[in-house]
Amino acid sequence: MIRIIIVISFIGALIFACGNDSNNESPTKKTAKAVDGKKIYQRNCVVCHGVYGDMGASGSFDLTESGLSKDEVIAVITKGRNAMTPWESILSEEEIKAVAEYSMTLRK
Ligand code: HEC
Repeated sequence: MIRIIIVISFIGALIFACGNDSNNESPTKKTAKAVDGKKIYQRNCVVCHGVYGDMGASGSFDLTESGLSKDEVIAVITKGRNAMTPWESILSEEEIKAVAEYSMTLRK
């Protein structure tokens, strides 16, 4: 009888552990695998645009006021514009897309 209880609780623990895995870990795993636009922004863009996008260092555009479409944002980041440096040789296409999406979340 005791063996059965042990076996059942072991299986129960396994199921519980697996359940936890799929509930809690898969979303984090997904974001960890995907490129993190926020991190890319903090690493590369904060110097000019600031944490909230509105710092405006060296004449940089206030990203909270930006009205560009996502394609246009991606184009500015990829090719640069005036004092804004192009990022195509530094960031991958995927990273540029992710950071473009993140920069658009800074809008008011
Ligand atoms: C060297 C400073 C500098 C860095 C670093 C920089 N930017 Fe810029 N950014 C600028 C300047 C300056 C402008 C305005 C360009 C102009 O006057 O045409 C600008 C413009 C923009 C625009 C256009 C906004 C609009 O609505 O016209 C976007 C989007 C943008 N930056 C995103 C980014 C992102 C994302 C990063 C990080 C990958 C980044 N920038 C890094 C200086 C910088």
